[in-house]
Amino acid sequence: SPCSLIDLFGRRITYLRLSVTDRCDLRCVYCMAEDMAFLPRNEVLSIEELDRLATAFIRQGVTKLRLTGGEPLVRRGIMDLVASLSRHLASGALKELTLTTNGTQLARHADDLARLGVRRVNVSLDTLDPDTFKRVTRRGSLPVVMDGIRAALTAGLTVKLNVVALADSTPNEVVKLIEFAHRHGMDITFIETMPLGDVGVDRVDQYLPLDRLRALIEQHFSLVDTLDRTGGPARYARVTETGGRIGFITPLSHSFCESCNRIRVSATGILYTCLGQENAMDLKACLRTGGEAAMTEAIAEAIRAKPRGHDFVITRGGAPALSRHMSALGG
Ligand code: GTP
Ligand code: 5AD
Ligand code: SF4
Repeated sequence: SPCSLIDLFGRRITYLRLSVTDRCDLRCVYCMAEDMAFLPRNEVLSIEELDRLATAFIRQGVTKLRLTGGEPLVRRGIMDLVASLSRHLASGALKELTLTTNGTQLARHADDLARLGVRRVNVSLDTLDPDTFKRVTRRGSLPVVMDGIRAALTAGLTVKLNVVALADSTPNEVVKLIEFAHRHGMDITFIETMPLGDVGVDRVDQYLPLDRLRALIEQHFSLVDTLDRTGGPARYARVTETGGRIGFITPLSHSFCESCNRIRVSATGILYTCLGQENAMDLKACLRTGGEAAMTEAIAEAIRAKPRGHDFVITRGGAPALSRHMSALGG
């Protein structure tokens, strides 16, 4: 079906990021606070409701669906949701069904994901050093995630690694991370830390502009910019020496909002039309009591009000751009 989700800036919305839980087994230092309060379980949509919600968006032209969290694979019933949503792959309505995961549960699920038609997963991996991993994730264990990545590759999934660029740890390891990714045929994407939620440290001390990281990378590798896109905001360069790709996601230093094709729905059924703004539409009531027409109209109204973009800034002592944490909406 043709895409009916077009905003006032002419951007076609074909990519839905659906958060299936706000919970996570890790507490990454750029994402969460040390002690997080999670939503009461009864506020979170059921698997059947998540399915109906995603299906409503697919009917209106969404062709790429990414399940996010928190950590999507800690959601009870997650594989039932994937199994059910895979019917939209079979029908051709959905071109891609995928997820972004921290990898801790991937060893258990990789084969089933591949069998159900998932072709690609993005795995967060900020470091190859077990101690740094413990420090960045505040819990969790590097070998478990490494097993998850191995299982995904063995299952035939295409894996992209996501690295949030951190001033204190990424420069030391960037070459090793790239070599590891490319040795195993994986893309690797670096992401500037976005100021969502109070995480207990000053973002100024975390923030590493990717121009600086790129300059470090170019002391070891030659990069050739490409026009390749994978559907998200990353701009890719190819590394001549390895043949692999590096993605750069630069919400702070180079905004990419003018080509945004994305919206998000929280695990409570709230549609957020921009990651960096409060604009929202509660779809839970439509889901529970309204009909399909009410849902379609609510979605259209929200899309009309999609903001031009975010305006993140990182200043010393500055308040977060938004009080909600990254984990509440899955990034
Ligand atoms: P691909 O399908 O592989 O292109 O993935 P993706 O980049 O769309 O998804 P992923 O979940 O791997 O996201 C990587 C990073 O990009 C995360 O930190 C997201 O928060 C960030 N990101 C994705 N979309 C947007 C966006 O519209 N705005 C901003 N500011 N960040 C985004
Ligand atoms: N800024 C940038 N990226 C973040 N992520 C989590 N929190 C932040 C943040 N504050 C990343 C995760 C994951 C992706 C969905 O978002 O590492 O790879
Ligand atoms: Fe969990 Fe991902 Fe946030 Fe880390 S970044 S705490 S793995 S949701």
